[in-house]
Amino acid sequence: MTEPLILSIESSCDETSAAVLKGKCVLSNIIASQKVHENYGGVVPELASRAHQSNIVPVAQQALVEAGITKDQLQAIAFTQGPGLMGSLHVGVSFAKSFAMGLNIPLIAVNHIQAHILSHFLSNNVRHPVPEFPFLCLTVSGGHTQIALVKSTLEIEIVGSTIDDAAGEAFDKAAKLLGLPYPGGPLVDKKAAEGDDKKFNFNIPDAGEFNYSFSGLKTALLYFLQRNVKEDEYFIEKEIANICASYQRVLVKYLLDVLFKTAKHFGIRTICLAGGVSANSALRRRFNEECEVRGLSAFIPPLEYCTDNAAMIGIVAYFKFLEKQFASINAVPMPRMKM
Ligand code: KG4
Ligand code: ZN
Repeated sequence: MTEPLILSIESSCDETSAAVLKGKCVLSNIIASQKVHENYGGVVPELASRAHQSNIVPVAQQALVEAGITKDQLQAIAFTQGPGLMGSLHVGVSFAKSFAMGLNIPLIAVNHIQAHILSHFLSNNVRHPVPEFPFLCLTVSGGHTQIALVKSTLEIEIVGSTIDDAAGEAFDKAAKLLGLPYPGGPLVDKKAAEGDDKKFNFNIPDAGEFNYSFSGLKTALLYFLQRNVKEDEYFIEKEIANICASYQRVLVKYLLDVLFKTAKHFGIRTICLAGGVSANSALRRRFNEECEVRGLSAFIPPLEYCTDNAAMIGIVAYFKFLEKQFASINAVPMPRMKM
């Protein structure tokens, strides 16, 4: 059987993305990031939805051009059904449905979290090692923080999650307190590279079992800054690199401590990271080091597949295509979609 050509669409939050995959191989992966939210310190759902509307056609068009194919060669259209913002998801769902109807080809609905997890199986025509089942995957992004027990490509159980903020929010909210623009995660990472990560300490609450809680960490940072700025109004300016490095060290250690505790409990020897926060340099480094010390197999997707992108939607679509798991033309966005 020749591998299917699938066009996939991702529009769950603030990136409009379209990709073409031939089997597991990425032929194109176009991502239009929305700058419009920078001034607001977070994603404004209505603005995100409008930006998706103006981006979706040119982004999909470019994905086809870069893949070197025409639309009548496609064998299926995939879209993110959820979780995500209702208005944002709506744009992708409507576009995919009309495209599939126009071409008379199947429609495939994809769960965004499953897509982050299976991003490990994407290839660029180069053979590379992939995680063996069963494996644990910590998905850390702006909207979610979950530990999944992955038994097969389509059999995934969530065994732990955050009880409040997501790990990405813990980075973004800290950045906001430090006066950095949205999304602040990558900026905290950059500033931290020049700082002393042992200079300050922040307490982390225990969320129990294999769960996380980040809201206390953000509050600890807030009080710490308020206390110090009272004594020296230039405190943040002078210490920003050390604050970022220390905060990042605490957060990364917390993420990994719970992850390894979970791995030990379930007796799993293959561990993966996924999601936007897995682009964090300290997390990537510490994860690899700690897995090596413990003799665990470690996997992190390439940077371009860590943050939101349509290629990861395409890989889930490929596995569903093989199983003929197609969606109805009546499919609707599911903002709170579960695995
Ligand atoms: O997966 P993603 O692109 O979108 C969601 O599904 O939410 O993740 C975005 C999140 C944001 O919170 C962003 O600040 C964070 O990932 N992020 C980072 C880094 N790069 C992206 N956080 C820390 N360090 C980074 N280098
Ligand atoms: Zn995501």
